[in-house]
Amino acid sequence: MTKYGAFPGSRPRRLRTTPVMRRMVAENRVHPADLILPAFVREGIDQPVPIEAMPGVVQHTRETLRKAAVEAVEAGVSGIMLFGVPEDAKKDAVGTAGTDPDGILQLALRDVRSEVGDDLVIMSDLCLDEYTDHGHCGVLDADGRIDNDATLERYAEMAQVQADAGAHVVGPSGMMDGQVGVIRDALDQTGHEDVSILAYTVKYSSAFYGPFREAVGSALQGDRKTYQQDFSNVRESLRELALDLDEGADMVMVKPAGPYLDVLAKVAEAVDVPVAAYQISGEYAMVEAAAEKGWIDRDKAILETLTGIKRAGASTILTYWAVEAARALR
Ligand code: PBG
Repeated sequence: MTKYGAFPGSRPRRLRTTPVMRRMVAENRVHPADLILPAFVREGIDQPVPIEAMPGVVQHTRETLRKAAVEAVEAGVSGIMLFGVPEDAKKDAVGTAGTDPDGILQLALRDVRSEVGDDLVIMSDLCLDEYTDHGHCGVLDADGRIDNDATLERYAEMAQVQADAGAHVVGPSGMMDGQVGVIRDALDQTGHEDVSILAYTVKYSSAFYGPFREAVGSALQGDRKTYQQDFSNVRESLRELALDLDEGADMVMVKPAGPYLDVLAKVAEAVDVPVAAYQISGEYAMVEAAAEKGWIDRDKAILETLTGIKRAGASTILTYWAVEAARALR
């Protein structure tokens, strides 16, 4: 007896006594193969351009992107998700540069595929916002509203040119209704039955995308709230999930990750396909900024966020720290 009552009958602390004991009983661990590196490639530059709001992340030249892809392979990362940043002059109302076989993303896909072949899963962002002058993920009708079905036609074309250019996986991120089904059909009809779809299934309208806008040089007019989801909802996410699976999604994604771990856990419980989570630009920027101020231990915080995402049920994590984290984990 202690002075105040019985000794504890059970002592969970026994299994926390040494680092190797804790490692032995760890229920989850992040492996380099879980990680996918999102990367930006910008047209018309001859030096990489730093992204101010994402310290350590750059807009790549075609040449430095090739090198980044090789580094990712060497670090043991599984995939790379490519985003194209066209010259401003090439942006227009319908995002023509997104379907130009010689558009920056298509050139980058060819470069990376020829550089690393099948040693990396090469993925492409399938969305119009990088290519439209108004910055929306779709085309607009005469009243300036997003035209869902006209946008689907554009996505079908994008799927084909991206697959032609060497994408193993396309990642539709525009949140148009029916996008997965149309893209599956377009791929199948153009001989790309083997190209997979990583569907951005649960994508919330989020303030944490802020730094990404700088990364792709997008000057968005208005907001994306008529197509991205309201962050108060989760039943709606399960509905989006059912639709995407029905339309042929091979993998599904929850995005952002950190503030939506409850949603990620529900999705992971509900499906039998791989579940990806995207730790987005604002999640990256918050840790980097706090670390720069000396307020948190950067390396520990990174590993903690990634482990939390894994614990919630992600089988794959897209993170701007992919290469660094993979090296640290080996
Ligand atoms: C859309 C897209 C976005 C991101 C990935 N794909 C931006 C948006 O929907 O506003 C955000 C990624 C990030 O913030 O890291 N093409």
